[in-house]
Amino acid sequence: MNRNAFIAVVVILVLIIAGVVLAKSMGQDQTVVENPTPTPLATATSIPSTASSTAKTYPLTEVAKHNKSTDCWLAISGKVYDVTKFIASGMHPGGEAILQGCGKDATTLFETRPMGSGTPHSAQAHAALVNFYIGDLK
Ligand code: HEM
Repeated sequence: MNRNAFIAVVVILVLIIAGVVLAKSMGQDQTVVENPTPTPLATATSIPSTASSTAKTYPLTEVAKHNKSTDCWLAISGKVYDVTKFIASGMHPGGEAILQGCGKDATTLFETRPMGSGTPHSAQAHAALVNFYIGDLK
């Protein structure tokens, strides 16, 4: 009987130890499951790329398609402007000279006005560009 009781105690002890080891390993599993918690960080890293993609970009080949008075885009200093309505309004003090820039990188034309005064546009003219901005030159 004593011997049987001893064996029973040993079996119970082994079961308890096995239970503790199992419980510990399950606890470790839970720690591993916690690892996906930093996912918000991964989301955060994707935010700057979203922000940087907000401005539209156009290659010069796209600007080139808008090359007439009724559909006129200009690229000036890396930015793209749709001046179609400005032309239609007849408000450009330089008249039809602006048409020479349609569908082109018109930076030099805008800054030098070779067919006019040969000087850069005024600060007021530079400030007015914002009204026609549609995106950046790719
Ligand atoms: C590249 C295209 C353009 C060309 C070739 C051009 C050319 C001219 C010319 C020849 C004049 C007359 C004065 C002079 O002879 O110097 C002028 C005046 C003027 N243009 Fe343009 N222009 C262009 C685009 C624009 C745009 C996009 C704006 C508006 C955002 C603008 C705004 C003005 C203003 C306000 C004046 C009056 C003078 C001044 O403030 O500088 N122009 N432009």
